[in-house]
Amino acid sequence: PLILVLNGPNLNLLGTREPEIYGTDTLDDIRVVTERTATQLGCTVDFRQSNHEGVLVDWIHEARGTAAGIIINAGAYTHTSIALLDALKGVSLPVIEVHLSNIFHREAFRHTSYPGRAAVGVIAGFGGQSYVLAVAALANLIKTAA
Ligand code: DQA
Repeated sequence: PLILVLNGPNLNLLGTREPEIYGTDTLDDIRVVTERTATQLGCTVDFRQSNHEGVLVDWIHEARGTAAGIIINAGAYTHTSIALLDALKGVSLPVIEVHLSNIFHREAFRHTSYPGRAAVGVIAGFGGQSYVLAVAALANLIKTAA
């Protein structure tokens, strides 16, 4: 089964972006551990990043019929994007939301999540490990559904 992993704005800067919050792993480092975990669980990963909301919406639409589930770190669009929420609901695939940081420890404007309303669950606060945990959770969901 194919898992689509979507990353939103500014996540391309990981490694040097506010390392005290997000750590020093690059997005490519996270991709590597995410792919490794998926392989161990018999899944494959299509790992993508865009700074553009509409591109993320298009990719969610394309997942219909190709992916078995979606893992999404929507970055700041988490807190603003009804369009992403509607897209995720529209494709009716299992969704897991991830964040590197624990958004509930942070500013009040980060405490709400639109994609979270379409997600089975949310994993936040474990750095790059959040993605590994999400793959494990999603692989399990996919297997249970099959
Ligand atoms: C983030 C948390 C968001 O609030 C922030 O805008 C990000 C990264 C995280 O992974 O911790 O860009 O999604």
